[in-house]
Amino acid sequence: MDNMDALCEKCLACRNCGLAATRTKVVFGVGPVPSDVVFVGEGPGQQEDLSGEPFVGAAGKLLDDMLSIIDLGRQNCYICNIVKCRPPQNRDPMPEEQDACIGYLEEQLRLLRPKVVVCLGRIAAMRLIRPDFRITREHGQWTEIDGVRYTAIYHPSALLRDVSKRPETFADLLSLREKARELGCSEYKSE
Ligand code: URA
Repeated sequence: MDNMDALCEKCLACRNCGLAATRTKVVFGVGPVPSDVVFVGEGPGQQEDLSGEPFVGAAGKLLDDMLSIIDLGRQNCYICNIVKCRPPQNRDPMPEEQDACIGYLEEQLRLLRPKVVVCLGRIAAMRLIRPDFRITREHGQWTEIDGVRYTAIYHPSALLRDVSKRPETFADLLSLREKARELGCSEYKSE
């Protein structure tokens, strides 16, 4: 598999797990290829399932606001999820569903060649950073894995439910912009 369009086509036809039976659309991911900064959520919700685009519901609107705080937009970062099909009733994706789907994300990351990967919430952080990752204690911290910097911030849905988490997330976003600038991420090159 040598390009994102071919990978997307394969993913759109995927029936590797039970979520294929209940999905409306596969939500593969959006953004430029390559991308220096990649955001990874957990899985599509209802609006995303209907539209085929990640983060277009209420949490997505908040994600757009979070991106704009650090001078990013959908045109200059990549946004995707751990699982590409909606778990019914927005439950957490099960380990076997994540296992069935993770190959697509691994391939996306290989093609994107990001400098920074931002996990949105606990599920993505546990899958991409460490299985015992504790989002309340470890959000905003940085880890290097195979030369790529990883961090996790609260999921926008968590910030909709609990506004008291927003100031910490604001600080995490500023740290993200700082790290991305320090690493010379192309989004910040003209500054
Ligand atoms: N929540 C996610 O984790 N991903 C989406 O795409 C939408 C909501």
